[in-house]
Amino acid sequence: MSTRIRLDVTRMMADAVGKEFGASTEEIEKSWPRVEAILQGLEARRKNGELPFYDLPDDMDTVERIEEYAAKARSKFKNVVILGIGGSALGPIALQESLKPLLWNSRPDDLRDAPRLFVPDNPDPEYVGAVLDLCDPKETLFNVVTKSGTTAETISQFTAVLSILKEQVGEEWRNHLVFTTDPAKGSLRQIARTEGINTFSIPTAIGGRFSVLTAVGLLPAALLGIDIRALLAGAAEQRELVFNRSFDENPSAAFALLQYLAQTKRNQNIHVMMPYSNALYRVADWFRQLWAESLGKKSNIHGETVHTGPTPIAALGSTDQHSQVQLFVEGPYDKTFTLLLPQQYRRSIKAGKHFPDMDGIDYLAGEDIGTLLKAEGEATQRALTAAHRPNMAFTFESITPEVVGGLMYLFEAATLVGGGLYEVNPLDQPGVEAGKVATYALMGRQGYEDVRADIERERERPTRIIPNRRD
Ligand code: PA5
Repeated sequence: MSTRIRLDVTRMMADAVGKEFGASTEEIEKSWPRVEAILQGLEARRKNGELPFYDLPDDMDTVERIEEYAAKARSKFKNVVILGIGGSALGPIALQESLKPLLWNSRPDDLRDAPRLFVPDNPDPEYVGAVLDLCDPKETLFNVVTKSGTTAETISQFTAVLSILKEQVGEEWRNHLVFTTDPAKGSLRQIARTEGINTFSIPTAIGGRFSVLTAVGLLPAALLGIDIRALLAGAAEQRELVFNRSFDENPSAAFALLQYLAQTKRNQNIHVMMPYSNALYRVADWFRQLWAESLGKKSNIHGETVHTGPTPIAALGSTDQHSQVQLFVEGPYDKTFTLLLPQQYRRSIKAGKHFPDMDGIDYLAGEDIGTLLKAEGEATQRALTAAHRPNMAFTFESITPEVVGGLMYLFEAATLVGGGLYEVNPLDQPGVEAGKVATYALMGRQGYEDVRADIERERERPTRIIPNRRD
C-alpha cells in the first residue's frame, strides 16, 4: 500500500506570501546544487556504513526477534512501562499516540487488544509514582531504554523499580525486565550479561533521536500490537526518494532547504509543526527534539563558533487556534509553519440537529466533526498565507503505520540534509552532555569531583533574589 505522503510548498513561496516572506524559485535553484552535494556526501557515507539509519527498514532479523518476544510478552503482561528519556522515549510515545486509539491506557480491558503502555520520561517522583500506582509489578514489564546505559534519569528509575520488583516478584524479577541499549558498551549491557536479562540492541552508529525505527520504537510498538513491518515498509518507501536530485521529487530535502532558507535569509527562526490530529501531536513533539537537538549547535563542522539552529515548536489544530494562532497570524514575522493534514480521520462522529430556530448552531447538523477539523486546517492555511506567514503542508489519506513510518523517516532524512546546510554535525549533542556531566557531579558520581568543586564555587557567588514577601 502506497503512503502517498505529499508535500505542498505552494504557500512557502514568495508568490503566495510576498517577496519579503517567501522563497523564490531563483533562490531555490541557486541553493539546490548545495543540497545535491550534501546528498552525494550522505550517500557516500551511507555506502561506507557510517549512516546505518538509512537501512533500518531492511533489518528483518531484528523485526523477527521483536515479533517473537512481543507475541509472548503481550499475553503475559497487562502493562508495559518504558524507562527512558529523550530519544529513548519520544519515539515510542509518538507511535503509541498515532497508531493506537487515543486514551489507550484509560480503556477497559475488553476494549484493548494489547497491554497499556506508560512512558514516565521524567524523574519527577509524582509522575513516576503515579504510573507505579497504576501498574501492579506482577503484571508489568519494564523496558529500560538507554543507548549510553548511564543516563541519570533512566538509571535512577531503573534501580528504584528494581527494588520494587525484587520485593514484590522475588526471584522472577528478571522476567519483568527487558533492556534496549548499545550492543556492546555501557552499564546496562553489562548488567544484562551478568544477570541474563532479555536485551535488544540500538546499532552503535544510531543516536537516540534517530532510533525510533530500531528496537527503541519497534519493541514497544510490537508490544502494543502495531504492525511494525508496515511501519518499516512506509520508511522504505520514503527511502526511494531521499536521495533524489530533484527538488520536486525529494520532499525531505525540499523541506530541509525551505526551512533553512526561511531562517537564514528571512530570520524565520521558529519552525512550528501543527498537525490537525491529536494522534499526530506527539509526532510533532518527537520532531521538536529531532530538529532542535540535531541542528542547534555552538560550533560548526569547521570548528567556528556559530550558535546556530532553528527553534521548533509543536502546536495542535484546531486546539491551538484558540491559543497560539493569534500570535502566529499577527505577531512577529519570525516563523514558518508545517501542517500535517490527514485527508480522512479513522472515526466518524456527526453533529446533531436540535435547535432549528436558532442562528449559528444547526448549520453543522449532520456534518462529521472531522469535516469541521479539516475545514479548520484549510482555514488556518488561508489565514497564515493572507498574513504573509510561510506555511507548507504534508497531506496523506489517513494515519496508518506506513504513513507514520514514512513521515518519521522523511523527517530524519531531512535533518541530515539540514545538518549539511547549517554545516553542523546533526548526530551529536554536546550541549546535552554538559548538563549530564553537571548532574553526575551534583549527584556525587565518582570521577566528577572537579566539576562538583566548580559548582560549589559558583554557589558561593552573591545571588539576587526577589523574596515576594508580604511583610
Ligand atoms: O537523541 C539523543 O541522543 C538524546 O536525546 C538521548 O536519547 C537522551 O539523552 C537519552 O540518552 P540515552 O539513550 O543514552 O539514555
